[in-house]
Amino acid sequence: MSGSVSPVTTTPTGADPVRGTAHGKVILFGEHAVVYGVPALAVGIDRGAWAQVDAGADADAKSVLHVRGWDVTVREDAGDEGPPLARAFRDVLAATRREQRAAGRAPVGTVHVEAEADLPPGGGLGCSAALGVAVARALDPAASAESIAARVNAWERVFHGNPSGIDAAVASLGGCVLFTRGEGEAPATIERVRVSETLHLCIGHSGQASSTKSMVESVARIRERRPEITQKTFDAIHTLVKNARLAIVDHDLRAIGQLLDLNQMLLSGLFLSTPEIEQMCATARTAGALGAKLTGAGGGGCVVALVPDAARGADVLAAWKAEGFDGFAATVKAEVQDVREILQKLHERVLAAGSP
Ligand code: MEV
Repeated sequence: MSGSVSPVTTTPTGADPVRGTAHGKVILFGEHAVVYGVPALAVGIDRGAWAQVDAGADADAKSVLHVRGWDVTVREDAGDEGPPLARAFRDVLAATRREQRAAGRAPVGTVHVEAEADLPPGGGLGCSAALGVAVARALDPAASAESIAARVNAWERVFHGNPSGIDAAVASLGGCVLFTRGEGEAPATIERVRVSETLHLCIGHSGQASSTKSMVESVARIRERRPEITQKTFDAIHTLVKNARLAIVDHDLRAIGQLLDLNQMLLSGLFLSTPEIEQMCATARTAGALGAKLTGAGGGGCVVALVPDAARGADVLAAWKAEGFDGFAATVKAEVQDVREILQKLHERVLAAGSP
């Protein structure tokens, strides 16, 4: 894992190649429950994916996608028996052309797409969604972030079967979002959550890749066998998410940390944790993290830990490294506040400092 992506930008169409970028994501609260309609809180990170589209064609004029790093090339006409990446590429191209026609615009023609992801596949950081968003954005730079996220759901269904859509939404929008899946065909509700002061996170890899599709299926089986207990777990996660949203807005780090730990316990109860994940969470807490949990599908993949500052983050990363786990630091930047809010906050601080 190296480098980073710039904020989502694309260059205008024309003869020049068109580039799209996308964020990786970290789910702070609510993974899995989000598949069943519980809201989830996630943040975009500045590692992600990029794609570049050139008008052009292979010999018999079919679009191709080449993913650097994986050294995989797929064609849009690979058919239903083709590899998942080829089907995902075909589906996102079809969704793009459909929406362009519906808007009275000329559909994208035959293209050559070069793409690369800077996220570990199967790591729970939204690698496939980031790649899909980067490709979809480069195919149609004029589309809104919401529309790109909806198109990438077609891509995500190929890999994940029943995605909630949170990965594609965060890959496209970045920032901190509260995401609620729409019922049936209804669109998702996406609310931006204001991060009042920078959050410092450590993200560590357990060393095992996991499959979102099989982890989501495993929770579905548990839910079938034990509907009541599973519903109670989802209800508890829902409560955590509501509290976490308030804690993030208030920058109450201690509360966010405790809620992360509680969410981890609930996810363990759904058999989504592993010995390595438990070890990494414990190590992070001992090294000074305020809370830690798995992020994404679980069963391997990554752990996210909240730390009070960058120095404590370095301690957590060093403690993981000493145990053989790779990791990196990520910050969620505070959003610009309006002047009245800043003054109000200062006023509250002055009052608090003056109180006995
Ligand atoms: C995967 O990043 C998050 C899950 O909740 C699945 C989904 O929402 O599609 C496990």
